[in-house]
Amino acid sequence: MFTITANTRRAKPEDAGAIAKVHEVSWKSAYAGIVPYSALARMINRRDVNWWANAIRKSTLILVVEMDNEIVGYVTLGPNRVSTFPHEGEIYEIYLRPEYQGVGLGAKLFADAKTELKRRSYKGVVVWVLSDNDPAISFYENAGGRAIANGSEHFDDKKLTKTAFAWD
Ligand SMILES: CC(C)(COP(=O)(O)OP(=O)(O)OC[C@H]1O[C@@H](n2cnc3c(N)ncnc32)[C@H](O)[C@@H]1OP(=O)(O)O)[C@@H](O)C(=O)NCCC(=O)NCCS
Repeated sequence: MFTITANTRRAKPEDAGAIAKVHEVSWKSAYAGIVPYSALARMINRRDVNWWANAIRKSTLILVVEMDNEIVGYVTLGPNRVSTFPHEGEIYEIYLRPEYQGVGLGAKLFADAKTELKRRSYKGVVVWVLSDNDPAISFYENAGGRAIANGSEHFDDKKLTKTAFAWD
């Protein structure tokens, strides 16, 4: 018998290709049918290996989760972008490859991201989620998040609403 363990660590420049792949497959799976096809394709193409390599080089805070030495998810985090919120930290993105969803890795990555923000002295955390992304909303509600605000974003000619969840 052998055990496969999940390991979370800070992204390194050589991870850019693997993160770009996770981004592509996870976004296609999460947003097909929600975000218009052309807008989604454009966003995915923009976030290619060079974009991620540049983000890592510029010290953007990115954590990856590995299973058996393969990167299967990532999370990006940093200061909250809405000045009226009292919460200081924000988780900008959290994405897993579809075949690794639903087995506890998201909960681990989310907890590790919150710990990292706390370690950096950010008090409180917010996450924005598209209101049509039902599975992610269930995930944040299950994790004890409180809906504190709504907003909207345009994707080509489609306006989508989004919700901010917060943890004190
Ligand atoms: C959202 C995401 C990160 C969650 O990670 P995950 O690994 O699938 O979730 P986990 O298996 O760790 O689940 C953690 C808990 O949330 C619950 N949960 C997860 N997805 C759920 C769902 N769709 N409905 C209800 N509960 C859910 C689980 O039951 C589990 O509960 P427990 O701790 O009481 O056992 C992952 O599914 C994902 O990458 N989704 C696609 C991308 C996305 O939408 N990202 C968020 C953008 S804002």
